[in-house]
Amino acid sequence: MTLRFCSAAETDLEAISQLDASAFEFPWSFADFEGSLKAGHQFLLLKDDDRLLGFAVYMQIFEQSELLTIAVTPSEQGMGYGKLILNEVLARLAASQAESLFLEVRVSNTRARALYHSVGFQEISSRKGYYPTRDGREDAIVMQKLLGN
Ligand SMILES: CC(C)(COP(=O)(O)OP(=O)(O)OC[C@H]1O[C@@H](n2cnc3c(N)ncnc32)[C@H](O)[C@@H]1OP(=O)(O)O)[C@@H](O)C(=O)NCCC(=O)NCCS
Repeated sequence: MTLRFCSAAETDLEAISQLDASAFEFPWSFADFEGSLKAGHQFLLLKDDDRLLGFAVYMQIFEQSELLTIAVTPSEQGMGYGKLILNEVLARLAASQAESLFLEVRVSNTRARALYHSVGFQEISSRKGYYPTRDGREDAIVMQKLLGN
């Protein structure tokens, strides 16, 4: 087993969007990922040899940055890979002079919220009815972590 981080090429988008569809009830479309890559967002992939275990997509604008999405393939969740990916994103942003990382998370996503708290994110506000659900809308919690720059 050889874990490695890499960035994404067009040829990774199929695997990324398949993983996303298996991890989220409301996944991004292939076109969303394609547009995000074309827009210059950062893709950080975690692979075991050539198998995609998880990924994060984030963007940086000067000193501010935002985590756009993060997912680990369902059969590999709960084994530390999500935290590994998130810590690598934090290290890369800190090294490129970002001052803080923001993200939005569903109120109901207790697992992700626990992950974010465990690496030092704080809940700073909420957005009412930000996400669709099967029978309505749910709020987003906005979280922030300062990166020490
Ligand atoms: C959220 C997600 C990326 C976390 O990745 P993961 O590899 O499963 O998580 P890890 O094994 O690295 O665990 C990291 C932390 O998450 C929390 N966590 C993990 N599994 C958990 C569970 N079943 N219940 C509650 N908290 C849990 C813990 O705080 C854990 O830290 P600890 O091990 O130090 O206690 C992953 O579960 C996932 O892809 N979920 C679906 C997509 C998603 O919700 N993405 C986030 C959108 S905002």
